[in-house]
Order: sequence, then C-alpha cells, then structure tokens
Amino acid sequence: MSKKIAILTSGGDCAGLNAVMRAVVHRSAMLGWEVIGIENGTAGLLEEPYAVRTLAAEDFDGFILRRGGTILGTTNSKNPFEYPMDDGSIKDRSDELIAAIKDLGIDAIIGIGGDGSFDILSRLANQGGLPFIGVPKTIDNDLSLTDVSVGFDTAVEVATEALDRLQPTAASHDRVMILEVMGRDARHIALYAGIAGGVDVILIPEIEYSIEGIAKKIKEVKQSGRNFALVIVSEAVKTNGGKKVEMVHSDGQTRYGGIGEYLSPKIAEATGFETRVTVLGHVQRGGSPTWNDRLLAQALGVKAVDLVDEGKFGRMVAWQNRQVVDVAIEDAIKECRTVRPHGTIVHTARSLGISFGD
Ligand code: F6P
Repeated sequence: MSKKIAILTSGGDCAGLNAVMRAVVHRSAMLGWEVIGIENGTAGLLEEPYAVRTLAAEDFDGFILRRGGTILGTTNSKNPFEYPMDDGSIKDRSDELIAAIKDLGIDAIIGIGGDGSFDILSRLANQGGLPFIGVPKTIDNDLSLTDVSVGFDTAVEVATEALDRLQPTAASHDRVMILEVMGRDARHIALYAGIAGGVDVILIPEIEYSIEGIAKKIKEVKQSGRNFALVIVSEAVKTNGGKKVEMVHSDGQTRYGGIGEYLSPKIAEATGFETRVTVLGHVQRGGSPTWNDRLLAQALGVKAVDLVDEGKFGRMVAWQNRQVVDVAIEDAIKECRTVRPHGTIVHTARSLGISFGD
C-alpha cells in the first residue's frame, strides 16, 4: 500500500496555491506517495462524509498551474479549536479532526498557509502526533524566515499595474490618485508597488505621516510643473489621531479598510488638487500567478514532499538567498515581518524622492 500525503490550503487565498499543489502531486507520484486534497482548510475533515478527494498527477496538467485561487477551497474563519457551530456556539473540534486524519490513514500533512494557519496546524500536530510540513503563502509577505511567500509577487504586480493605469487618468484630469492596498499588519505591498509604480508618496504605519508632510511633497510636484500625483497607502495606516481605520463586514468581523477615503478630502484641502481613491482589495489575491510565484510555489512544493519522504517534520519550507531551505515551524511564526524603516527598500524609495509623508 502506498503511503498517503494530505494537502490543504488554509487562510486567505492568493495566486500560486494550485502551482504548489501541482508540484506536490507530481513529486509525490515520482516518490510513490498517494496525495489526497482536503477541502476548505481543515474544515473538510469535520464534514460528513469527509470533503476529501484524490489528487492524481494526470489531473495536474499545465492549466492548473496558471489558475488563481485554490481548487481545494479555503477558509480563514473555521479554527478547529474555536469552531463556529451552526447554532452560534463555539466548540473545540480538534479531537474530531485528529480522529479523521487517523481514520483516513494519512501519514503526513502538507499545509499551504500563513502564520495563523501554521499556528493551528502545528497545535494539531503536537496534540495528535501528526507529521506536518508548512508551505508559506501570503500576499502580506509577513513570515519572517522566508525571503518571500507564495502570492506576494503577484499581489505587487497587480498593485503596480493599477498604478500604471491610474497614472494616465491622473494626468488627464489634473488629479491626485490615492491607491489603498492590502497587507494587513505588514506593509510590503505598498512599499514595493510604490517604488515599482513610481508614486510620489508611500504611506505605511512604520513611518508617521502628517497631512502637511504629504501636502509638502504634492506641492513640490505641482511647482515642478507636473499636474498630477500618485499616492499609495497601506490599509493598516492609521488616522492622523492614531486610530485604526476599519470596516465591519457581513460576517460581523472587523477588517482594515477606508484609510484612502479618510485621507482623500484632507489631501484635497491641503493641496488644492482634486483627489480620487481606488481600493484594490481582493483583486490583489486573484488572477494568474506571475512567473516568480509559479517558480517559488513549485520549488517549495517539491521540497515539502522531499521532507515528507525523508521523514523530517515540524518544518516550514522557505526561500532564502535563492535556495529552498527548511526551518522550524515555531521559529517561522515567532514574529511578523514588517517593513524596516531604515532598511534598503525604504532608503531606495527616499533616494528616488518618494515621500513617506513625514
Ligand atoms: O492576509 C491576507 C489579506 O488579504 C490581508 O491583506 C487582508 O487584510 C485580509 O486578508 C482580508 O481578509 P478577507 O479575505 O477575510 O477579507
């Protein structure tokens, strides 16, 4: 009987998840492992019957490599330790989940996730003695021990393309265009896309801004004879008074959103420019992965199976200095990697004349 790997995607989706799966399935076939996919994160194992399916190499042709999202589905709200039941109560279902894994004869689990998912999966692994490997994915790029996570490159590409599209319309109408991007508590998308898209102002929470600071830069732009400006703002930037800007969604949860609209009238008043806001939102997570994400996803997917085959567990595969390596899961989720205000990338931006509104 062949040994069985279960794979799942967990947390917010991003481009490149299917590419990881493809690599896992092909490498597993080569090494004699069977692969089953669990649907909707770990939640698929709490359904009756289990929401699982066999993933065969012949189903993973070149099409799936190009597809955004995750063919297995995912969730960022069904923590098995605090599972939201239909009657509104919260239940710890971790034992049921561990029993399901044993029932299915799963020998190893590969979880494609971010820090929240890895925390849950490693708690499960410790509780049930389950062999687990993590593959890092997140547009936020906030896992500290990998240079980059799957999905980040595509998100930056989408934000850069948005700036490319905003620039001509800004110039046609003499406007300041404000682009609000995701990233939760890590602000790499705003910083990277801001530089790549040639903005005038980047706003990130690590660097305190003032409306006067933003206006100063935009007025300089005007005095230089340019009739428009581009501003990129991370969703986690706070108001002038230091308050988070958030929205309550249909699931009752509060998430970042709205800082662009908060800033827009203030920038208009301080500069005399007309302003408009674009909130990029989940567009950053969808679409076909860039070549960088496809390469990264598949290199990490292959390494994850190699570790399973070697019997090395409790590890996250990572990309460091153009090599695939593996690190301890608990070290990988210890700290959230935010922007270094005095690091190379911020220095590059400042050296190009980009203002941080300070
Ligand atoms: O963590 C990924 C992310 O896209 C964040 O950048 C964003 O703040 C959040 O997820 C949005 O979450 P949801 O998909 O629940 O709206």
